[in-house]
Amino acid sequence: LNYLTPKSRHEVLDLLLNGLRRLEYRGYDSTGVAIDSPQANDIVMVKRCGKVKVLEDAITEHFSGKEYDEPVMTHVGIAHTRWATHGVPCETNSHPQRSDDENSFVVVHNGIVTNYKDVKTFLEKRGYIFESDTDTEVIAKLVHHLWKKHPGYSFRELVEQVIQQLEGAFAIAIKSKHFPGECVASRRGSPLLVGIKTKTRLSTDHIPILYGKDTEAPKTKVLPRTESTSEFMPLEEKEVEYFFASDASAVIEHTNRVIYLEDDDVAAVRDGTLSIHRLKKCLDDPHAREITTLKMEIQQIMKGNYDYFMLKEIFEQPESVVNTMRGRVRFDSKSVVLGGIKDFIPEIKRCRRLMLIGCGTSYHSAVATRQLLEELTELPVMVELASDFLDRNTPIFRDDVCFFISQSGETADSLMALRYCKQRGALIVGITNTVGSSICRESHCGVHINAGPEIGVASTKAYTSQFISLVMFALVMSEDRLSLQQRRLEIIQALYELPDRIRQVLKLDSQVQELAKDLFQHKSLLIMGRGYNFATCLEGALKVKELTYMHSEGIMAGELKHGPLALIDDRMPVMMIVLRDPVYIKCINALQQVTSRKGCPIIICEEGDEETKSYSSRSLEIPRTVDCLQGILTVIPMQLLSYHIAVLRGCDVDCPRNLAKSVTVE
Ligand code: G6P
Repeated sequence: LNYLTPKSRHEVLDLLLNGLRRLEYRGYDSTGVAIDSPQANDIVMVKRCGKVKVLEDAITEHFSGKEYDEPVMTHVGIAHTRWATHGVPCETNSHPQRSDDENSFVVVHNGIVTNYKDVKTFLEKRGYIFESDTDTEVIAKLVHHLWKKHPGYSFRELVEQVIQQLEGAFAIAIKSKHFPGECVASRRGSPLLVGIKTKTRLSTDHIPILYGKDTEAPKTKVLPRTESTSEFMPLEEKEVEYFFASDASAVIEHTNRVIYLEDDDVAAVRDGTLSIHRLKKCLDDPHAREITTLKMEIQQIMKGNYDYFMLKEIFEQPESVVNTMRGRVRFDSKSVVLGGIKDFIPEIKRCRRLMLIGCGTSYHSAVATRQLLEELTELPVMVELASDFLDRNTPIFRDDVCFFISQSGETADSLMALRYCKQRGALIVGITNTVGSSICRESHCGVHINAGPEIGVASTKAYTSQFISLVMFALVMSEDRLSLQQRRLEIIQALYELPDRIRQVLKLDSQVQELAKDLFQHKSLLIMGRGYNFATCLEGALKVKELTYMHSEGIMAGELKHGPLALIDDRMPVMMIVLRDPVYIKCINALQQVTSRKGCPIIICEEGDEETKSYSSRSLEIPRTVDCLQGILTVIPMQLLSYHIAVLRGCDVDCPRNLAKSVTVE
């Protein structure tokens, strides 16, 4: 929303498209945009199936008239890039969704409205005809219905009524031709922030919350009008530009001042003024939303000289691991301090068990560090996939400590599991890469992994930083244990050497590329290992699946004889991780089981380990490190391998089909 300087509609479109490009990693099967038409009080909308580039071309074609170059003082535009949940990706199902063919109300939405069928039936009975298969369309049509019914309502009041009828998760932004120059946005479950850009320094650090009368919402029934205690006027700035976005990367090039909205906040902009309104006042409500300053730099979300974000992020790992450890691992005094959880350490030490919960790659970081956590904390450690954990209604107790590991801090499954554990009185520790995310805000304490923004859909540097964060936690927990001091020193020394070791591994890139040439036409790839390296097998296989669409399976080498051995013949591609650690002999047994069935594995082994190398004609040698950190060095060749196979197969590395970086729906 622009109230700052006059902008042409073309400039507004450029700004929106740029924002979409930054958010494209969150979903990219179709896109759309709605802006004010040069014809008074009208809205023009363009939608396309496919990526933002397709929309960009359509826009160039569509908005060619001179009137689009004329500057306007006030403007509201909305845009969206979609990851389909309801309805196939096509133009009609793209957002914005509209209330009627006059575009009276247009909506962009992230999330799933679970009761959309009930709302749809309610509206169909009142004559509304639906054009898309989306859940989102009910939102546009419901606002329209209420607007007709209550002509005196403000735009914000209408939206407030609408969200009371919605169940499920949403972040929405709505624009209307009946309320020109205004935009209303709200969230529940899905992330949403407001960026504020002003010419001069902002005159306030907070936006007070305005409250309405307490009312209970009967389902899919229109509610009586509620009254607010005061009207708009909290932010005095008049020359201002506002941005509503799902995450900060879309706004950082314009402003670093943002407000993270909370569930059921309704943020409205009218006449250049932002207000935040809630229908209900909660006891622990802070009565204001803080305007925070982002530390993100624009370069961090640009590709630089790399062809893909993923490649950039793989090669950033020598620095990102340092950023994770900065100020925390003190190499001179051989101590570790985690400021975000230090006050809770005595409580954690008294707990019944540690639960590590996450999805996808984040879950694998828990698998990777479980053994070390068990060793250094001497506590039972459970690792759980958030979705399965919830399905099982897992018993949780007040003296449990539950870690939620999530790069984005917004994954719906993880967030739901967090709320489940919090309700049962457990201590909640968040391990995330996104400051201000829902998981951060809803945790009692936590660790920011500080890996820097990760844009490639397949997670790489976040994994190694999550890994290190959990290792640091294990070190903190064992600080006073005399018998463990030698082990701690060995690990701290290895952490010190880690960035150099990672640099060494990255030099394998061209060798890995050659291996990719051997593998990319195959249908399948099995990755085997055990002990500290089992997580690398799971994570490596996930990377291969995500990026190359090839079948791949991470196999616990100990389980080989219980089934997977049947897959082995002279054609099946196999990778095996065989390092000089406590499970070396067992890994050699597995290797022999494979080679004696004519399997020809690619071996990941330690530098100079001629004996292990002699089992195969192809191998990758990685530098030696302490056993519990090997997983960081063995996963990097797998990240590179999946990248090169994907390039050779012509896949879109940063935007693999059917996936999204941050899955904010259950
Ligand atoms: C999505 C991504 C995965 C990621 C998972 C968990 O499925 O495609 O790469 O590992 O979500 O995301 P989180 O942000 O919670 O770590």
